[in-house]
Amino acid sequence: MSKQPIGIFDSGVGGTSIWKEIHALLPYENSIYLADSINAPYGPKGKDKILELSIKNTEFLVKKNCKLIVIACNTATTNAISILREKYNVPIIGIEPAIKPAALNTKTKAIGILATKGTLSSSLFHNTSNLYSNGVTIVEQIGEGIVQLIESGKLTSVEMEALLKSYLEPMLGANIDYLVLGCTHYPYLIPMLIKLLPKHVKIIDSGLAVAKQTQSILDQHNLLNTELIKPKNEFYINLENTKVMQSLLSPPFKVDYLDF
Ligand code: DGL
Repeated sequence: MSKQPIGIFDSGVGGTSIWKEIHALLPYENSIYLADSINAPYGPKGKDKILELSIKNTEFLVKKNCKLIVIACNTATTNAISILREKYNVPIIGIEPAIKPAALNTKTKAIGILATKGTLSSSLFHNTSNLYSNGVTIVEQIGEGIVQLIESGKLTSVEMEALLKSYLEPMLGANIDYLVLGCTHYPYLIPMLIKLLPKHVKIIDSGLAVAKQTQSILDQHNLLNTELIKPKNEFYINLENTKVMQSLLSPPFKVDYLDF
């Protein structure tokens, strides 16, 4: 059982940022990563559609005998995790925007959150943000168009820079000192964000926390792979063009097209 892979899915290529954190912490674990890029972005879709797609992805990974599933997508987590947990027997880990550490540590009493429409409109997000909004201004911003640009290989484009500048403007106007990245595609924007943000603004995401949670749940279930050999890491995308995903993976891995 412990040799079975960890299953990871996202609406697209962004969840590879989470795969990297997991792989760095658990280098001997086998894994299967699914990028549902043909259906990206999930963010503007309704809750029912996000749930339907999340079930499809989970079903695939369960059939592949994954011992644990990581939803490497804030939008899918905030809209579907409770139903997925009811439906499947396998442990399921999700990712949510790291509002808590930002709200607890802000000095300016203002934090920014950049996430998809689907995440910011979910009740799971509302509940968390209400818990920590006492005395702290939370400036929410939908990252409309960012996922599409990343999916089409325009991570470092002029369009991206213009879009980010416009999204950061109201946050900087509110004097934020923390920017929470609430989408797994966004860690790839950190080099550009560092250029655009004043030095005192800290950027946080939930990648390492998810990797630690994965380790702890595997440990609790006695599922950590004890075979200390080079693992099998499989990457699948349902777009024939695998280049964008390939370009995000370092060290390079083979990415296969699969119609799932
Ligand atoms: N990586 C997904 C997330 O974390 C992107 C959602 C989308 O496809 O819009 O929310």
